[in-house]
Amino acid sequence: MTTPFYTIGIESSCDETAVAVVNGERELMSSLIYSQAQMHARYGGVVPEVASRDHLRKLPYLVRDALAEATIDMEDVSLVAATYGPGLVGPLLVGLSYGKGMAFGLGVPFIGVNHLEGHIFAQRLSDTEIEPPFMGLIVSGGHTSLVDVASYGEYQLVGITVDDAAGEALDKVGKMLGIGYPAGAEIDRLASQGNPTAINFPRPMSASPGFDFSFAGLKTAVLYHLRKHPRERKEDVAASFLASVVSVLTKKSLDATKRYHRENLVVVGGVAANSHLRERMQTDGKQKGIHVIFPAIKYCTDNAAMIAAAGAYHHLVLRESHPLSLGPQPSLSL
Ligand code: KG4
Ligand code: ZN
Repeated sequence: MTTPFYTIGIESSCDETAVAVVNGERELMSSLIYSQAQMHARYGGVVPEVASRDHLRKLPYLVRDALAEATIDMEDVSLVAATYGPGLVGPLLVGLSYGKGMAFGLGVPFIGVNHLEGHIFAQRLSDTEIEPPFMGLIVSGGHTSLVDVASYGEYQLVGITVDDAAGEALDKVGKMLGIGYPAGAEIDRLASQGNPTAINFPRPMSASPGFDFSFAGLKTAVLYHLRKHPRERKEDVAASFLASVVSVLTKKSLDATKRYHRENLVVVGGVAANSHLRERMQTDGKQKGIHVIFPAIKYCTDNAAMIAAAGAYHHLVLRESHPLSLGPQPSLSL
């Protein structure tokens, strides 16, 4: 039997406080998430100051419970991993400082994790077969990026949104439709009851060369349409708008996978939980001979299991750790 190596992962970059324990590279022992979404819903978006204070309140209890669920003691922890960017500086500071304090107190190494890389590692928790190289699409509330993954730790940015992230556009359209924040899951549900061809919304950037995205114009098109047709069925607006988002994401991602001669496309991040996106990508992928992989839905939205897995890999395989002087990097990229 190999000696256990427990990594505790801490995520606090936005409005989820999350703690997880992973043994070795990816044996998940526990994963707890406390979502502040309800608290921010009344403001229609995340209020950084409110988020920071709440992370500070919840984190100690999540750490305690995650250790208990993994049936280990604090002293059994071998490595502490915490998100250090990108994200909101206040919320990042809370988890990062807590993690560094823990590592210092226990006398164990510390590793800062890039939240975007964490999303890519979500795939590793669900699927044991797929390993790099692959094309990755990170599609969340804060990011829409195509990343060529030559190996874990070796990334090449292939395309990025030039304005809003896909999830951000979903949340803003949700607001126009009177849906609470975040709106992605509700738009998913409404769209299933609507007609995706009811309104012909634009397919931004789909005809332009390259692999960048743009969703701000599409969001404005929905706003103007609703002003002109205030009685339009919510279900049809949701279905038609989502059809455009799904179509653009699918086309660009599959094209990029082909262009970079990859066989697999891995789709991660909160929007990867979308049932319409999952279905369309799988169908179109099959036609093009590309295998499209999605992590389990619970690992798509923000969680700490992916942070612990990314941290464990960097430490155990790439032999890395960070000094305790590591600061938060709100604009960190891959
Ligand atoms: O990855 P995530 O939890 O946080 C960020 O790193 O941004 O992604 C949150 C985003 C939100 O915009 C939310 O509306 C969207 O993911 N989302 C969805 C679904 N579930 C969450 N979007 C579409 N369909 C869903 N089922
Ligand atoms: Zn995220």
